[in-house]
Amino acid sequence: MSVHGPSSILFCLLLSMWTILTPTSSHPQHSQCKLTQRTTLCNNSNLTSIPVGLPGTTEELQLNHNLIKTLQDNSLQYPSLTSLSLACNQLEKLQSNTFQHSELLKSLNLANNNLNISYLETSNALKTLPKLKSLDLSVNKLDEEMAAVLLQNLTALEYLNLSGNLLRRLDETSFRDLHQLKDLDLQRNLLFEIDNAFDSTPRLQRLNLAFNYLPCLTDFDMTQLVVLNASHNFIEWFISRQDVNDTFQIETLDLSDNKLLFFPFLPNVSRLRNLYLSHNILSFYEHLADNVTFPNLTATVKFYNLRKNTNNITAQLWDDSLHGDISSVEILDLRGNQLQYFPQGFIHKMPSLSRLRMCTNCLESLNLTSEQFSDSLYELDVSNNRLKEIVANDVTLRTLSNLTYLNLSLNDLDCLSSELLFALPSLRSVDLSYNNMGICLPEEVEGSAGIAWNTTVSLRQLYLKGCHLPRIPPFAFSGLSLTHLELSDNPGLRGQQSIKSLSTTLHHLGLGNTHVGELDFTNFQNLKSLNISCNSLAHLPASISGLDLKQLDLRDNELSTIPSLQANTLASKLHTVFLTGNPFNCCQTEWFRTFETTKTIHMVGQSEMECTDLFQTHSIWHSQSFLCHEEYGESIFWYILLFVPVCISLVGILTILFLTLKPKVIQKSIKKKYLTPTSY
Ligand SMILES: *[C@@H]1O[C@H](CO)[C@@H](O)[C@H](O)[C@H]1NC(C)=O
Ligand SMILES: *[C@@H]1O[C@H](CO)[C@@H](O)[C@H](O)[C@H]1NC(C)=O
Ligand SMILES: *[C@@H]1O[C@H](CO)[C@@H](O)[C@H](O)[C@H]1NC(C)=O
Ligand SMILES: *[C@@H]1O[C@H](CO)[C@@H](O)[C@H](O)[C@H]1NC(C)=O
Ligand SMILES: *[C@@H]1O[C@H](CO)[C@@H](O)[C@H](O)[C@H]1NC(C)=O
Ligand SMILES: *[C@@H]1O[C@H](CO)[C@@H](O)[C@H](O)[C@H]1NC(C)=O
Ligand SMILES: *[C@@H]1O[C@H](CO)[C@@H](O)[C@H](O)[C@H]1NC(C)=O
Ligand SMILES: *[C@@H]1O[C@H](CO)[C@@H](O)[C@H](O)[C@H]1NC(C)=O
Ligand SMILES: *[C@@H]1O[C@H](CO)[C@@H](O)[C@H](O)[C@H]1NC(C)=O
Ligand SMILES: *[C@@H]1O[C@H](CO)[C@@H](O)[C@H](O)[C@H]1NC(C)=O
Ligand SMILES: *[C@@H]1O[C@H](CO)[C@@H](O)[C@H](O)[C@H]1NC(C)=O
Ligand SMILES: *[C@@H]1O[C@H](CO)[C@@H](O)[C@H](O)[C@H]1NC(C)=O
Repeated sequence: MSVHGPSSILFCLLLSMWTILTPTSSHPQHSQCKLTQRTTLCNNSNLTSIPVGLPGTTEELQLNHNLIKTLQDNSLQYPSLTSLSLACNQLEKLQSNTFQHSELLKSLNLANNNLNISYLETSNALKTLPKLKSLDLSVNKLDEEMAAVLLQNLTALEYLNLSGNLLRRLDETSFRDLHQLKDLDLQRNLLFEIDNAFDSTPRLQRLNLAFNYLPCLTDFDMTQLVVLNASHNFIEWFISRQDVNDTFQIETLDLSDNKLLFFPFLPNVSRLRNLYLSHNILSFYEHLADNVTFPNLTATVKFYNLRKNTNNITAQLWDDSLHGDISSVEILDLRGNQLQYFPQGFIHKMPSLSRLRMCTNCLESLNLTSEQFSDSLYELDVSNNRLKEIVANDVTLRTLSNLTYLNLSLNDLDCLSSELLFALPSLRSVDLSYNNMGICLPEEVEGSAGIAWNTTVSLRQLYLKGCHLPRIPPFAFSGLSLTHLELSDNPGLRGQQSIKSLSTTLHHLGLGNTHVGELDFTNFQNLKSLNISCNSLAHLPASISGLDLKQLDLRDNELSTIPSLQANTLASKLHTVFLTGNPFNCCQTEWFRTFETTKTIHMVGQSEMECTDLFQTHSIWHSQSFLCHEEYGESIFWYILLFVPVCISLVGILTILFLTLKPKVIQKSIKKKYLTPTSY
C-alpha cells in the first residue's frame, strides 16, 4: 500500500485534470490545453488542428507555436469566441466557412504563417467577420496585392499589423474598406512608394513605416495622425502640405536614421511634442544663400507630382524660417547630424523645449543668451561638437532654472568658458570630459581656489575625464554632495586629498589612469563603484577591504596577487571586477579560485587573464600546467619517495641476478678470500 501510494495520488490528479479538461466529450486531442475561466491556452503543443470539445463558453483561444496548416470549415464551434491567436503555425489556408459559428470574433492573430499560399480562400473566411477589430498578419510573405485582397470588407478593423511582409507600394486600393483603422504597423516591408493609400482611413492615429525603402514623404496631410514613425528609411525630404488650415494632431514624429538634408517642413499648425531626427545629414543653409554675390541663384526646389500633376510643391531651400510649427516641441533629438548653428529665433520658437540632444554635430559656439532658451530646458546635450566657447550672461543663467543635465564632453572648451555654467541653479549632472580644462589650472598656483566647481550646491555628478587636469585645488569639492566623480584619464593628477571631503556621499569614483599613488578609502562608506585601472599599483590598497564595493576596476596595474583575506572580503561583496592586464603570479592564484567559485561575482574578461610561472605565461584558467617553486619542491619529494623503493628493489633484483648467473665467480672470490690455507 505504501509503495503504491504516490502513483495512486498521481493517478487521482490526472483523473481530476481529465475531468476538468473534458466536461462534455471525451476526445483526447486537447489534453495539452490549459483552461482558466473563459481562456483556453494550447500553445507549444505540436497540434495539427484545432482541438475539439473545448468548453462551449471559451472566449479566448490561444494556439500559438503549433503545427496547424489549415483551418477547416466549422472547426470553431465556439459561439462566444472573441479572441483567437494562431501565431507561429504553418497556416496556409482558412477555409471559407471557418468562422461560421464564431461571428463575434474581435481579435485574430495570424502572425508568422504562410498565408501567401491560399490567400484568396482565406480572404473569403475573413470576410465573414464583420466585427473584427484587431488583425495581425505580420510575417506572412504577403505582397501588396495579397494584402489588399485579404483586407477586403474588414470595415470594423481598428488595429492592423502587416509588418515583416513583402509590400512594395501602397495606393488608394490598399486599405479601401478600413474606415475605422486607428493603428497600422507597416514596419519591415519593402515599401518605396505610398500614393493616397490613407485617403480612406480618416481615423488613423498611429502609423509605423520604419525599416522600409521610402525615398521621401511629401504632401503630408494626415491631420488626424498622432504618431508617425518613418525611421530607418531613405527619406531625403519630409514636406507637409502648407495649404491645410486644420491643426495637425501629430505629437510624435520619428524620422531618425534617414537621409534628410534639410530640417523637415512641418505642418503650419500642429501639436508636435517629440521630434526625432537623429542620424540624418541635416544642416541649415541660409548662410550660404548670399544673394548679393549670386543674385540669380535659384533658391527654390519644386516637387512635381508625376501622377496627377496636382499638388506640385515648392520649397524655399535657403529660408531657414520655413520649418513649420515647432511651438509645442518638448523633445528634439538631432544627434548625429551636421548642424553648424541654429537659425535665428529657432530655439526661441520652442518655449516648451525640455530636452535638446545635439550630440555629434558641428556647432562651433553656443550663445545661450541669443538663442533664448526657455526655463523648461531640462537636458542639454551638446557633446562631441566643436564648441570653443559657451556664452551666457547672469540673466540667462538664472532663466535656465530647470537645466539639470548638461553634457559638454568632447569639445574644445577651456575652463573659463565653462565655469559660468556652474552658476546654473538646478544643475545635477555636468559632463566636461575631454575638454581642455587644465589650461586654467597652472601648476604653480598651488592652493588658490581657481575653480568654480563647488558653486552649484545641487551638483551630484561631475565628469572630468581626460581634461588635462594637472591638479585639483584643495577645496574644489568642499560643500558639495557629489555621488559621481569621474577624474580618469588625467595622468599625473595631483591633489586627491580634496576628494576626502566627498567621502560620505560618493557612490562612484573614477581614478583610472591618473597615476595615483597610495590611496586611503577608509571613510568612503557609500562607495559602490571604484575605478583605479591603469595606475601601476603593485598592491591593492588595504582600505579597499572596508568598502561595500559592487564594482571594481583594477585593469592594467602591476598586481601579482591578491592576498587571500582581501580576496575573501571582496568576493563576498563585489558583483563585477575587472582584472585583465596584470602580471599575476601563477603560483599565487588562490584569489582566482575564490572569485571563480563565488557565484555572485562576474570577472570580466576571465578567459583573457594571464599569469606567469617559472617558465612562461599562461591563461590563468588552465591552472593544471603551472610550474611553481613550491610545487616543484613538493613533486621532487614525491619523486624521491617513489624513487627510493624502486631503486632498492632494482638493486635487490640485480644482486639476485648477479648471484644466480655468476655463482662461480663469487665462490671463487669467497674461496680466494676465505679458503686460503690457514696455518694451523
Ligand atoms: C465586400 O465589399 C464589396 C465592395 O467593397 C461588396 O461589393 C461586397 O458585397 C462586400 N461583401 C460582403 C460579404 O460584405
Ligand atoms: C507587429 O508584429 C511584429 C512582428 O510580429 C511585432 O514585432 C510588432 O510589435 C507588432 N506591432 C505592434 C504595434 O504590435
Ligand atoms: C520607431 O520604430 C523603431 C523600429 O521599430 C523603434 O525602434 C523606435 O523606437 C520607434 N520610434 C518611436 C518614437 O517610438
Ligand atoms: C484655408 O483658409 C483660407 C483663408 O481662411 C482659405 O482661403 C483656404 O481656402 C483654406 N484652405 C483650405 C485647404 O481649407
Ligand atoms: C502656412 O505657412 C506658409 C509659410 O509660412 C504660408 O505661406 C501659408 O499660407 C500657410 N498656410 C496656412 C493655411 O496658413
Ligand atoms: C536677399 O536676402 C535678404 C534676406 O534673406 C532679402 O531681404 C533680400 O530681399 C534678398 N535680395 C534679393 C535681391 O533677393
Ligand atoms: C542675373 O539675371 C539678370 C536678368 O536675367 C541678368 O541681367 C544679370 O546679368 C544676371 N546676373 C548675373 C550675375 O548672372
Ligand atoms: C505641376 O507641374 C507640372 C509640370 O510643370 C504642370 O504641368 C502642372 O500644371 C503643375 N500643377 C499645378 C497644380 O501647379
Ligand atoms: C551673445 O548674444 C547676446 C544677445 O544676443 C549678444 O549681446 C552677445 O554679444 C553675444 N555674445 C557673443 C560672444 O556672440
Ligand atoms: C523641469 O523639467 C522637468 C523634466 O522635463 C519637468 O518635469 C518639470 O516640470 C520642469 N519644471 C519646470 C519648472 O519647468
Ligand atoms: C556625454 O556624452 C558623451 C558623448 O556623447 C557620452 O559618451 C557620455 O556618456 C555622456 N555623459 C553622460 C553623463 O551621460
Ligand atoms: C576605468 O577607467 C579607464 C580609464 O579611463 C577606462 O578605460 C575604463 O573603461 C574604466 N572602467 C570602467 C568599468 O568604466
